[in-house]
Amino acid sequence: SDPDLVARARAAKAALGDRLFVLGHHYQRDEVIEFADVTGDSFKLAKEAAARPDAEYVVFCGVHFMAESADILTADTQTVVLPDLAAGCSMADMAAIDQVRECWDELTEAGVADATVPVTYMNSSAAIKAFTGEHGGTICTSSNARTALTWALEQAGDGGKVLFLPDQHLGRNTYVRDLGGSLDGCVVWDPHKPQGGLTAAQLRDATMILWRGHCSVHGRFSVEAVEAARREVPGVKVIVHPECRHEVVELADEVGSTERIIATVAAAPPGTAWAVGTELNLVRRLAARFPEQRILFLEKNVCYCSTMNRIDLPHLVWALESLVDGRVVNPIRVDEGTAHWARVALDRMLALPG
Ligand code: 13P
Ligand code: SF4
Repeated sequence: SDPDLVARARAAKAALGDRLFVLGHHYQRDEVIEFADVTGDSFKLAKEAAARPDAEYVVFCGVHFMAESADILTADTQTVVLPDLAAGCSMADMAAIDQVRECWDELTEAGVADATVPVTYMNSSAAIKAFTGEHGGTICTSSNARTALTWALEQAGDGGKVLFLPDQHLGRNTYVRDLGGSLDGCVVWDPHKPQGGLTAAQLRDATMILWRGHCSVHGRFSVEAVEAARREVPGVKVIVHPECRHEVVELADEVGSTERIIATVAAAPPGTAWAVGTELNLVRRLAARFPEQRILFLEKNVCYCSTMNRIDLPHLVWALESLVDGRVVNPIRVDEGTAHWARVALDRMLALPG
């Protein structure tokens, strides 16, 4: 990276001292991750944001929903900054609050809403998190989806159901792979069709109502790529993120959040070969960090998460130098009405065991 920008980022960080805390998601570029005080998956970063009450500014190098969650979990006196407001998440954009309200109305009409608990993936807007809090549900991330789903199914009781949104793959993978549920117990709610494209009987019979959303990056890892890796690299271990399609997850040796992928690779003996199915910045860093292992990218045709990549060193320097000058650029502020109920849902997640 540009040495001038590196020097400016260092100087701005030094000038701000303890007033600043920089969080970096594992999918961030190397040039940005270098300046993160803490790196993590979305669960760890949410906890870290909540654990820094003394930092006046929390600069979030990640995507919009993560910065919103950080704003909800930090004190009113703290300001969360997202260095580029265009860093969104295409999966989070697949569920709009009006569509979710409409879905709930239709579940009510079909007579199943009373028996349904919403479980909302962190990758969602603050408004949907608030809806979840108001309707007795919880947030989950890929590292606690199993615990969150177990909790929600217990809350729902006998014959109860979970509305899982917006990632159908994480919902299905968690229910089937982690909890031993059956694929037949899952239906997919399509927000673009009347009554989600489902009959009242299908809704009554289902245990998991999965929102039709997915990650455009992880959705591209294929069964063929897993088979090719196994063919080409004898003894290779396949490790993927649970946002991958169910057929891919079923074939993998290991499945986990970004933090878990790193921990699993770190614990493996030298000489282990891995085909990794997650975002490319992280896979490249794994390869650099563990040269004694063989780290391969699972699918040649998959690229970076374009929105994560929006946060680059020029944007970070701009955000930091503005703070040094006493100007806050790109603050992320969730209105208090929304934040209240979203916090209820996030606190339910933070209180889950383990
Ligand atoms: P993690 O919670 O595993 O970091 O995942 C976040 C994400 O957006 C994956 O695409
Ligand atoms: Fe969203 Fe997928 Fe990018 Fe994660 S990798 S931030 S889910 S688009």
